[in-house]
Amino acid sequence: MSNIKTVGVAGSGTMGTGIAIVAARAGMDTLVYDTQQAALERARRQIEGFFGKSVERGKMTAEVKAAAMARIRFTTTLDDMQPCDLVIDAVFEDLKVKHSLFGTLDKVCPAHTIFASNTSTLSITEIAAGSGRDDRFVGMHFCLPAQLMKLVEMSPGLNTSDATFAAAWSACEALGQRPVKTKDNPGFILNYFLVPYNNDAIRLVEAGVAEPADIDRAIKVGLGYPMGPLELLDLIGLDTQLLLCDALYGVTHEPRAACPPLVRRMIAAGHLGRKSGRGFYTYNNDATFGG
Ligand SMILES: NC(=O)c1ccc[n+]([C@@H]2O[C@H](COP(=O)([O-])OP(=O)(O)OC[C@H]3O[C@@H](n4cnc5c(N)ncnc54)[C@H](O)[C@@H]3O)[C@@H](O)[C@H]2O)c1
Repeated sequence: MSNIKTVGVAGSGTMGTGIAIVAARAGMDTLVYDTQQAALERARRQIEGFFGKSVERGKMTAEVKAAAMARIRFTTTLDDMQPCDLVIDAVFEDLKVKHSLFGTLDKVCPAHTIFASNTSTLSITEIAAGSGRDDRFVGMHFCLPAQLMKLVEMSPGLNTSDATFAAAWSACEALGQRPVKTKDNPGFILNYFLVPYNNDAIRLVEAGVAEPADIDRAIKVGLGYPMGPLELLDLIGLDTQLLLCDALYGVTHEPRAACPPLVRRMIAAGHLGRKSGRGFYTYNNDATFGG
C-alpha cells in the first residue's frame, strides 16, 4: 500500500511524457513540469493521442480517458510542484541541470516528498548529493517507451534510507510497474546488455551490410523482438545513446560499448531520432508510441 498520491514529473521530453502517462493512468494526480512551454504542449498532444488510441482500441473508455487527462496538470513554474509526494526527474542528462532542479525542489516540496531520478548514466549518489535530501533520494530507471514497458530498475544511493527505498518501491508497484533492485552502477542491468547490442546494429549500417529497415525486420522476424534496434535507437535518441556509450565504455572498456562514429555524425547533423523528426527513419513529430 503506497502513500504516494501526487506524482511530479520534471522534464516532458521522451521519458517524462511516458512517465506522466503511467502516473495518470494509475490514478495519481500528476504534475508535469518543464522549462519549455513548447515541450509541455507537445507532451500534452502526445498523451492525449496515446489515450485516444487506447479508446479506439477498446482498452479504455472515453470517460476513463477524460478522467486521466483531468488528473494531469502542465506547468513551467517549479513552485507548482509543492503538492508532490514523489518527484521523478526526466530532465536533460546533465549533473549540473539535475542538481539545480533538485536543489530548488528541496525548498519547494515538503520534507516527506521523495525525489527520484530516471537517469540512465549518472550516479544516483552524485545526483542525490546536490538534492538537499540524499536520504530521501532513489534511482527509478524506467524503460523506453515508459507507457508500454513495465520494468523499472530501482537503485538506492549510498545514503538512501531503507524507508525511502521501500516507499519508492511501493509507489512503483502502485504505478502498475514491475521494479527490480540494482546497484547504483553505469548501465544498471538492462543497458549493460542493450548498449553493445544497439552499437552492433549501428556498425552494420556503417559498414553498409544492410539498410536499417532490413536489420530491424531481421531482428523482429528472426528473434521475435517487438522492435528492431534502429527503431529503438530512434526512440532512445542518438544523443542519449552517445551518453550511454561513454558511461558504459568508461567503466567496462568493452569495445562493443564504444560509440560508433556514425552516432556523432548523426548528432552533428541534428538526426537525433524521433524527437528531432529524423534519425535512422523520418517521423511526424506528434506521434507517440502505443495506446
Ligand atoms: N531516452 C531514453 O531512452 C531514456 C531511457 C531511460 C532514461 N532516460 C533518462 O531520462 C532523462 C530524460 O531523457 P529524455 O530522453 O526524455 O530527454 P529529452 O531530451 O527527450 O527531454 C528532456 C526534457 O527536459 C526538459 N528540461 C531540461 N532541463 C530542464 C529543467 N531544468 N527543468 C525542467 N525541464 C527541463 C527539456 O526541455 C526536455 O523537454 C535523462 O536523465 C535520461 O538519461 C532516457
